[in-house]
Amino acid sequence: PSPDYVHIVEVGPRDGLQNEKKSIPLETKIQFIEKLVTTGVTTIEAGSFVPVKWVPQMASTSEILQHLLRSPPQSRHAIAYNYLVPNVKGLENMVEIMNAEAATTETPGTPSKPATTTEISLFAAATEAFSRANTNCTIEESLERSRPIVELAMTRNIRVRGYVSVALGCPYEGPDISPSKVAEITATLLEMGADEVSVADTTGMGTGPRTLELLRTLAAAGIANSDLALHFHDTYGQALVNTVVALEHGVRIFDSSVGGLGGCPYSKGATGNVATEDLVHTLHSLGMHTGINLEEMAKIGAWISTELDRANDSRAGKATLAR
Ligand code: HMG
Ligand code: MG
Repeated sequence: PSPDYVHIVEVGPRDGLQNEKKSIPLETKIQFIEKLVTTGVTTIEAGSFVPVKWVPQMASTSEILQHLLRSPPQSRHAIAYNYLVPNVKGLENMVEIMNAEAATTETPGTPSKPATTTEISLFAAATEAFSRANTNCTIEESLERSRPIVELAMTRNIRVRGYVSVALGCPYEGPDISPSKVAEITATLLEMGADEVSVADTTGMGTGPRTLELLRTLAAAGIANSDLALHFHDTYGQALVNTVVALEHGVRIFDSSVGGLGGCPYSKGATGNVATEDLVHTLHSLGMHTGINLEEMAKIGAWISTELDRANDSRAGKATLAR
């Protein structure tokens, strides 16, 4: 890819919605994803295969996957839909749906050229306290849990992303997270076969200097920028500062959420991801390409905010629509 191209992973339908208290109708979630497809975005996090008692809002993920396999929204680009899986059971549930859909939609002898692919994300964390709160296990156990997930995914040619949460601050342990611990976990996920690792500032406590220190530590540990994504929550308004630091360092994959939706159920007070509209505006202003139409994205940010009865958290989105 061109060094001017930045790949944006739209996490709105998963990270953006998982913390909403009011149950969101399945139709709204599907409409949300279908609208996002029209913006030029090529990777969309569509849901999580987690127990309902842990994250009730994600209960409709099976139906979403089924719908996207059965009637994928038309688009000019191939779209990758990504689902979080916390354990092998989550992936097994997902694969069961994929098998059932493949059995009913494939015509023998005519290999279909899929316009869509299905990916997964698994997650780990840089602190024991967050690991326990988010996944009910130690860091070590969460990595051991990841191995059979990656193995099963490989047999199905499912691309795997890994997440390392609380990489720049933890709701329980504060901002001083060891960069070498983050590097060690990232390297372990890559070694076990993850295709990419998204290093996450779950709490938004990251600052420019600490982001740079973390990126230097990751590089010193032999981790290539092409294997890295960054996932900034904007709780302290530093996400774009940190993004520019990471861009200068050579990172070209960033996660964001339209309208700045989101938050993590296990990170009290954490606000949304950096807004996709703000990220796109900043990247385009720097001469980078994203393939994303800012105006279309801004309309979706306004629409979903109204649907959820919340304020639109994207400044660039609101300004674009007000012009
Ligand atoms: P647990 O309670 O220890 O699991 O949770 P368990 O293995 O003891 O199972 C408990 C029950 O759940 C059993 O059912 C299992 O069968 C069932 P029962 O016998 O009680 O009837 N079960 C499942 N059901 C459906 N799907 C499954 C599944 N697994 C077990 N996959 C577990 C452990 C890891 C499952 C739980 O802690 C969990 O799901 N955690 C995920 C929490 C979560 O989704 N957090 C938010 C996403 S992460 C995030 O937002 C951060 C990110 O954005 C990056 C960042 O910003 O940092 C990615
Ligand atoms: Mg997140």
